[in-house]
Amino acid sequence: MYKDGLLDPFNIEHHVLDQLPEDVMILNSLDDIDSFLSSEKDLALGEFSQTDDYQQIIRLRINEQVDIDREFQSLDDLYERAPGAESLVSMYAPLLLRLDQAMEWKTKRITVKVIRDQMCPLFHVDNLKLRFIVTLQGPGTQWLMGRDVIRKNLGKGGRKPIAKKNCYLQQIQTGQVALLKGLKFPGSKGLVHRSPSISPVSDTPRLFLRVDFID
Ligand SMILES: [Fe+2]
Repeated sequence: MYKDGLLDPFNIEHHVLDQLPEDVMILNSLDDIDSFLSSEKDLALGEFSQTDDYQQIIRLRINEQVDIDREFQSLDDLYERAPGAESLVSMYAPLLLRLDQAMEWKTKRITVKVIRDQMCPLFHVDNLKLRFIVTLQGPGTQWLMGRDVIRKNLGKGGRKPIAKKNCYLQQIQTGQVALLKGLKFPGSKGLVHRSPSISPVSDTPRLFLRVDFID
């Protein structure tokens, strides 16, 4: 947990899609993915229509408690290796396919996880090219606008503040699809973010689907 007092964890600024800060791209359609990849923005957010059995798929996954974390070559390969994830992944398959076609991604990794604590409490940038993440239940990933980040303090184990004074802590909403650029994305410094805090006793567990395009 971030403890130096610069951020008020209760003052989280929630956005609806038409009120996002300027440095976020809104994904209204799959065509916007290409614009995002060639833009200077580090974060794209979108809301895609959910299937009728959305809630049931989420409940099933939470109850199954089977984590998936593996590399794959293509979506077909992924379905073969992780049949339990098929219903979940297929909801976002058009977007994932489009991402896969957009660039020559070599290593891809899928993770489906149920989380009951704060996974990565410190602000950081991921050491990969691009991450697709959607939190299906529980609080979403927290992030900082570029103008609010003291980049030289990144990677120092939380000893120095990474967020500037009085900045807003941004948070991706549950069910929102997010694309985060990482350190390896050409021409990008990557989006500074962290896992949301979650109480193991009182909060509902987080369930997320993540696809990493590593290099
Ligand atoms: Fe991360």
